[in-house]
Amino acid sequence: MTKTENPRQQVYQELLSAYLTSGGGEKALTVAYEIGRKDLQNGIGLLEIAETHQQALNETLSMANDCVATQSAMNRAASHFLKEALSAFEVSRLCNRQTNDVLIKLYDVFENEAKRIAHRLHDESAQMLAVVYLELAEIANSSPGDTAKRIGDVVGHLDQVSSQLRSLSHELRPIILDRLGLMPALRALADGVRKRSQLLIEVTGDTEGRLSASLEIVLYRAVQEALANVCRHARASHVDVHVWREANSLYCAVSDDGIGIQLSTDGTTISQGLGLIGITERARALGGICDVSSRPNFGTTLQVTVPL
Ligand SMILES: Nc1ncnc2c1ncn2[C@@H]1O[C@H](COP(=O)(O)OP(=O)(O)OP(=O)(O)O)[C@@H](O)[C@H]1O
Ligand SMILES: [Mg+2]
Repeated sequence: MTKTENPRQQVYQELLSAYLTSGGGEKALTVAYEIGRKDLQNGIGLLEIAETHQQALNETLSMANDCVATQSAMNRAASHFLKEALSAFEVSRLCNRQTNDVLIKLYDVFENEAKRIAHRLHDESAQMLAVVYLELAEIANSSPGDTAKRIGDVVGHLDQVSSQLRSLSHELRPIILDRLGLMPALRALADGVRKRSQLLIEVTGDTEGRLSASLEIVLYRAVQEALANVCRHARASHVDVHVWREANSLYCAVSDDGIGIQLSTDGTTISQGLGLIGITERARALGGICDVSSRPNFGTTLQVTVPL
């Protein structure tokens, strides 16, 4: 047998060769499974395993001309061996899928709860405020001028409370998102942030039709977090939110002209925050990715890409 310089390749080749030339056996398949499990643990990728297997098979076949087993029997056995070596990867893939499913369900629970609180905040507080408005109007009608004026001031404050509650409930669960879709909801979100922060925010692009409810909420939350980050960290004056469809994916980018993400001396981000992690996890659960790029004093761009 040709010696290879790679000990992992050599072990694989010896085991495969023994399995193919000696007619197989359960024990050898268990060893194949163990090889795959260790490779998975050590971060070896599927492509590398495929290459290792192919090299080992070529080597074994080239030296097995006088072997009793036919080439096609050897090829069949080799594919059994490979399946065993890959089965740890398959288990891990299935676990990943289950984790994703659980994550998606958790996010659903969270969103439904946000919806419930938003509706209560919106509807119940509006009813209570309506009663207070009526009572104040009655008191004002039967009060002398000075008191009536002070009640007018209180009504002015109540108007502010009422509009704050409305905008809070919309942010918690934007009703407009369910009713009209992502772009109108992003414009409404940008309006709210613009009023509070004085940032210049432009929302452009098009989803070219409605998206699934889970995609819409994930993209909405991503932009919501990105805008919150711009307000808190970027010291920016201008933000672009752009949404577009390309091939079978939907892209959503939020770019600001701020100071960029500050890094510590060892090049890592300083924050222990959860916002960007949350966006990344939610995008990943839908098979997408979240990419953040930043340059000191040249702003930050957060881009989420999700498959349609
Ligand atoms: N647009 C931005 N401009 C400058 N720095 C940013 C920007 N977005 C994020 N960062 C930096 O990246 C860090 C991580 O952001 P992330 O949203 O994960 O956490 P956070 O905002 O600090 O906390 P949390 O979102 O959990 O309330 C921030 O602390 C900040 O330093
Ligand atoms: Mg944040």
